[in-house]
Amino acid sequence: MATKQKKQAANKKVKTSPVVKVALLGFGTVGSSVARVLAASKFPGVELTHIFNRNVERKRSSAAAKAVPASVVWTDNIDVILNSKVDVVVELMGGLNPVESWLRRALAAGKSVVTANKQLIAYRGASLAKLAAKNNVQLVHGAAVAGGVPVIPGMLQGLGGDQVPRLSGIVNGTCNYILSRMEAGADYATVLADAQQLGYAESDPSADVDGFDARAKLCILSRIAMHAELDPDAVATQTISTIEAIDFSYAKELNCTIRQVSRAELDGRLVHARVAPMLVPLASPMAWSHGTQNMVVVSGRFGGDVVFSGHGAGGEPTAVAVVSDLLAVAQGCTTVELPVRRREVTGDFLAPHYLRFVVDDKPGIVFAISGALSKVGANIDSLLQRRGYPKHRLPFVVTTEPCLTSTIERALASVARMDCMLERPLCLQMLEIEDKAE
Ligand SMILES: NC(=O)c1ccc[n+]([C@@H]2O[C@H](COP(=O)([O-])OP(=O)(O)OC[C@H]3O[C@@H](n4cnc5c(N)ncnc54)[C@H](OP(=O)(O)O)[C@@H]3O)[C@@H](O)[C@H]2O)c1
Repeated sequence: MATKQKKQAANKKVKTSPVVKVALLGFGTVGSSVARVLAASKFPGVELTHIFNRNVERKRSSAAAKAVPASVVWTDNIDVILNSKVDVVVELMGGLNPVESWLRRALAAGKSVVTANKQLIAYRGASLAKLAAKNNVQLVHGAAVAGGVPVIPGMLQGLGGDQVPRLSGIVNGTCNYILSRMEAGADYATVLADAQQLGYAESDPSADVDGFDARAKLCILSRIAMHAELDPDAVATQTISTIEAIDFSYAKELNCTIRQVSRAELDGRLVHARVAPMLVPLASPMAWSHGTQNMVVVSGRFGGDVVFSGHGAGGEPTAVAVVSDLLAVAQGCTTVELPVRRREVTGDFLAPHYLRFVVDDKPGIVFAISGALSKVGANIDSLLQRRGYPKHRLPFVVTTEPCLTSTIERALASVARMDCMLERPLCLQMLEIEDKAE
């Protein structure tokens, strides 16, 4: 090696930052995978020093603990972590309480935080980020949306220079698993039971199937892409549990399938945001996403559409995202920060709608439905009725021309009161493939 090169190498060594000490909070699915990923690659400059979990002996004697270096301190006392010389706290417990107060203490004590906790970031992200900035440390949450798919770092680093008026995506793997299997012919109850057995769905599946998990993620995405701070509780959600096999048959006739879509669109000071099952054209990227896959389409004003896709969940894919964040923090990389504004939110979108009715068939029903729709200014685009269903329980579908969802819902409120209606009409937005950023 030439003398000059030797000198340069020596200088680099001298400049290498000291080892960054890391504590893991939570040794469950993702936490244990993070320990395994760290042990597998032995990243220079990063040392796992502490693991915190309740009833920690149970975790310490588990098979997953074999990947953990013998030097690591295991504890179920949070003060051991917060009072230690740990530089970065990696939070993988989930929920708001007691996590928020512990992380506040960590940030105030000068420790950076890496987390995959979408509820925490959706509800408290803005104020935690302020606290981190005040203490000159970092709060990084690249794994909080879409697990192993680098949507957040990709948007921050790669799309920060664009303006994003619109984004949409599939950010809940459980719903995508359920709906893509229903598309292949299975019924909702069977697939949900399978999802629970495979560990994709909780015993109470409400957070996933009713859209609450996805709306937390949509709020995080809106903050990063549109710089719009939304109240997660104000975002409209609609359950996927009312979707039936017949809806996939009708969707197919319309060259569509059905997915739980999270979408947001900037409109001046307002953001249109909704998490709901929607009809998705078969030719659009979202229709190609199957199983637990996630997909996010970000529509930039200057750069056009960018699609992120991959494994949205699972211990190891999520651990990769967490460890990547950890390495960035350890190497002193800072993320792009742009001013964020609080925005009002509405679930209304101007879109064509799919309306499914189940009726005890009598003459004049279609006339009455069309009358209720035209009274609010909505036009019918098509009427679909498959053969082979009994007249006393007849499902049929009406699609409308583009119209506000609230307008359609107003018409449906009166239609639902008709004696012949056996079920509440199902109303789904239909995504249009020609959607383009301005
Ligand atoms: N799993 C995924 O695919 C995925 C993907 C993206 C993001 N995330 C996020 O990653 C985080 C962790 O998820 P996970 O799937 O790894 O959850 P998990 O398997 O339930 O692990 C959580 C761990 O934290 C411990 N814990 C929870 N509350 C605690 C408390 N108050 N005090 C002490 N220990 C506590 C749990 O202990 P016990 O064993 O005693 O319950 C468990 O070991 C969550 O925020 C989740 O939303 C997960």
